[in-house]
Amino acid sequence: MRTLLKLLGDGEFHSGEDLGSALGVSRSAVWKRLQQLQAETGIEVHKVRGRGYRLASPLFLLDEQVLNRSLNELGWSTQVYDSIDSTNAQAMRLIDGEVALPILVLSEQQTAGRGRRGRKWVSPFAENVYYSLVMRVEGGMRQLEGLSLLVGLAVVSMLRELGIADAGLKWPNDILVGNRKLAGILLELTGDPADVCHVVIGIGINVNMRSAAEVDQAWTSMMQQVGQPLDRNQVVASLSRHLHRYLGEHREKGFGAFHEEWEANHAWQGRAVTLLAGSTAIEGVVVGVDTVGALKLRIGDQVQVFSGGELSLRLRDESASG
Ligand code: ATP
Ligand code: BTN
Repeated sequence: MRTLLKLLGDGEFHSGEDLGSALGVSRSAVWKRLQQLQAETGIEVHKVRGRGYRLASPLFLLDEQVLNRSLNELGWSTQVYDSIDSTNAQAMRLIDGEVALPILVLSEQQTAGRGRRGRKWVSPFAENVYYSLVMRVEGGMRQLEGLSLLVGLAVVSMLRELGIADAGLKWPNDILVGNRKLAGILLELTGDPADVCHVVIGIGINVNMRSAAEVDQAWTSMMQQVGQPLDRNQVVASLSRHLHRYLGEHREKGFGAFHEEWEANHAWQGRAVTLLAGSTAIEGVVVGVDTVGALKLRIGDQVQVFSGGELSLRLRDESASG
């Protein structure tokens, strides 16, 4: 599949004969492979009599060699898939195997991309970044405190480096521009968090996503923000550099060293919000986060602290936001 995609990736016409000789198969076999490709990836291939086949729009594929070069410098290895159920699920499956950690799992598409609490992460082929870094964590709870919030800071730093200055965080794990979701973070843990465990840091970033009818909330992409498609290899390399740096400092200093930086990047700092906890709705004003990443809300004249995976924030004065 990858060879065929690489051949067609430039968005130019390629004759069935040329594709067949590059792949070492007949013209009718090329046609069958193209049918399969369309079915598996949702990519649109146009056929024009006398000219051949062309993709509806050019593709920028992940390049394992290019990625390995930048990630090896960080001491990470990479696995790049054309298609996988979920990069987080695959990263989890690697944990008890032979591979050296940390390892980064990337895929061109996810067939069962997951968000928090069993929600779906929409993951079209070759448009976005689906990123799961798996690593071993020793040293108890402190190494995990605020970790998913810290990852948000790395994503924001990458976005700034690549020209998107106005991205903000939404507690606990969303990256927004205005009120549109650009990226989400899902950490999954296995083992004993108080002793030795493994953590999968899952990050989904809308890079060049064109349309996504299935996303049931306002969303945006890096392409929409900068006005042109981006090279996803560059997005992965930049994100990895920033993440590597933040993880190193977090290991040494804990989240306490970052909570002010996090607040400075919180899109909803000082805003009136509703905190949803199952069927309970709590109204308050965002004060910030504490040194372990828990949310501080002013409720009446008291400040209360909230943490846990089942919590969701909503703005109360939605119409007033950007
Ligand atoms: P929270 O519950 O944390 O307040 P949320 O409503 O965004 O935030 P999450 O579980 O964090 O929920 O994220 C999953 C949701 O993200 C999905 O239900 C869907 O609305 C949205 N979503 C799914 N895929 C994408 C995507 N590619 N881009 C933007 N948003 C997406
Ligand atoms: C959220 O906002 O709910 C978190 C979304 C996390 C999506 C990423 S994409 C890479 C990794 N693999 C998954 O199945 N989920 C995460």
